[in-house]
Amino acid sequence: MDKIKSISVIGARPNFVKVAPIIKEMNKYNDIKHLLIHTGQHYNYEMSKIFFNDLDIPNPDFFLGVGSGSHAEQTATIMIEFEKVLVEEKPDLIIVVGDVNSTLACSIVASKMLIPVAHVEAGLRSFDRTMPEEINRIVTDSLSDFLFTTCHDANKNLEREGIPKEKIHFVGNVMIDTLKNFLNKSENSKIRKKLKLLNENYIILTLHRPSNVDNKSVFVSIIKALKDIQKKIKIVFPAHPRTIKMINFFKLNNEFKKMKNFIFIEPLSYLDFLHLVKRSKFVMTDSGGIQEETTVLNIPCLTLRRNTERPITITEGSNILVGNNYKKIIEESFKILNGQVKKAKIPELWDGKAAERIVTILRNNLT
Ligand code: UD1
Repeated sequence: MDKIKSISVIGARPNFVKVAPIIKEMNKYNDIKHLLIHTGQHYNYEMSKIFFNDLDIPNPDFFLGVGSGSHAEQTATIMIEFEKVLVEEKPDLIIVVGDVNSTLACSIVASKMLIPVAHVEAGLRSFDRTMPEEINRIVTDSLSDFLFTTCHDANKNLEREGIPKEKIHFVGNVMIDTLKNFLNKSENSKIRKKLKLLNENYIILTLHRPSNVDNKSVFVSIIKALKDIQKKIKIVFPAHPRTIKMINFFKLNNEFKKMKNFIFIEPLSYLDFLHLVKRSKFVMTDSGGIQEETTVLNIPCLTLRRNTERPITITEGSNILVGNNYKKIIEESFKILNGQVKKAKIPELWDGKAAERIVTILRNNLT
């Protein structure tokens, strides 16, 4: 019997976390030949290589080295380079995860070459087309042959868009597979010692969305809230490269330096980040995946966005939307600091076995 040749695509930081358990699962089967492509959308050591080490991801078989650029430039370069690989390799399947530009670019190329596309984390919708990721989600889903979802509302979104039911598979959350696989290992992290947080209360902040950091007055109002919060509790801020770029551009460096209880650091490795989140009082973020990780860890999460494509983290989890409004951020932060904490329930099938279900479905359909 011929082997199934499958190519998984990774490009940006959250992709690495999602693909790790799928590769591990695929490697269990002799009837699958698995190849990995890194587009190079993220290329800094802290944004990329360190994740391979932490999550035991093998070296990619192909590295496209596309780097940064405008959305069109980045997407187009990935498409051109990815097409060359597909022409050469002729895979039976490509697997894309999440909603980044690499996800979109590769699903367009594969579907035009009539190569089946599996989209992991399909069906999430913020219903906000000002987010580049929302466009990536809609287009990728419309082209995919296997749509693997993390929750029932994603199934409903896809059905509403006319995707045939038989293409949609509710399998759980691969990001939570990784969290469960690496939680024990993260206990050994020395990051609290390094940051002198062993006996300290702290919160974690992540911030990188264009809607928060590309507009100076919005960014300034978030900083104003941070100034007040750090008077009560230490804030640890692993800063994304695009945020650092915007801080320099808007000349906001001094605003951060003035805060005495604010720890400004480089992006963290997966294990260090997980270690810190698990022990934090709460997390403030505009990331997608962190809303899910905090829900599973039962750590309060304040999401600095007006909407979320992950509403289950609000209805069942520990997540609260605070937008970028000073008053709301302060109000919800101080509630948590005063002990008013929302309790989280772990959503259905977020049990560490999503990759197992995905690979079973793929083998049943492709062999
Ligand atoms: C991308 C994803 C976003 C995801 C985020 C996680 C898209 C549209 N966005 O956003 O959904 O939440 O990754 O981190 O795909 N840069 C570096 N080094 C790097 C990577 C980026 O310096 O390794 C800088 C560059 O200046 C670049 C900017 O960050 O222009 C933005 O990078 P890009 O990959 O375009 O998008 P992200 O904002 O990282």
